[in-house]
Amino acid sequence: MRQPVVIGNWKLNGSPASTEAWVSAVLSGMGALDAVEIGLCPPFVLIPTAVRQAAGSALQIGGQDCAEYLSGAYTGEVSADLLRAVGCHYVILGHSERRALFGETDAVIARKMVRALAAGLVPVLCVGETLAEREAGQMEAVVRQQLRAVVDVVGIQAFERSIIAYEPVWAIGTGVTATPDQAQAMHAFIRGLLAEYNPHVARMVRLQYGGSVKPDNAAQLFSQPDIDGGLIGGASLKAEEFLSICRAAADAR
Ligand code: 13P
Repeated sequence: MRQPVVIGNWKLNGSPASTEAWVSAVLSGMGALDAVEIGLCPPFVLIPTAVRQAAGSALQIGGQDCAEYLSGAYTGEVSADLLRAVGCHYVILGHSERRALFGETDAVIARKMVRALAAGLVPVLCVGETLAEREAGQMEAVVRQQLRAVVDVVGIQAFERSIIAYEPVWAIGTGVTATPDQAQAMHAFIRGLLAEYNPHVARMVRLQYGGSVKPDNAAQLFSQPDIDGGLIGGASLKAEEFLSICRAAADAR
């Protein structure tokens, strides 16, 4: 049985004060939720605050990106090793905003994944198609390409300790959620694709859905057989909303 995992991706939001308040609110609410793995990925500079506040609890902290480099003359970059050193558990890689706004290619994302795995982080690899790609019937081809580009570099075994997040670009921050059927169909496709490499890894890997997950649609999404939790943007900013999404993941088991 795969343990559901719900992670908040704050993107460029939050402050030291809101991080402290959020972590303490989530810690008090998550006592009854040990069936679910729960995480938060705040902006880099808020990570130490979150780690300190979450110390000794089951709440895991992560970064939203890492460098493809180990160290050196790369102004503005943060390495996977540094994330690990300050207490991160996860790193989100290949988010569609990184792909679209910062020009990240599949090759760059694969190199970042190598660094993340070597540092001992759990990568959360994001894949997903745009609306135009879906309307052209290319969504499976797009996701296949995004996944294969990484699997062919890091190997299928790496996915025993990685998470994949299916985030259709048209559902991110738009309020338009993929229907449970649409999301389930893509999750089943992803699992099938991984099964071509290794059926055991395909059965074990956790597949999150992301894109306008809210307290009122989470239960339906998480009750789909191949959806193992969610990567939550806007609705993760408020601790109460986030907790209610985590509760939906626990109840869906
Ligand atoms: P929203 O939940 O705001 O749509 O964002 C999803 C997302 O991009 C999480 O990584």
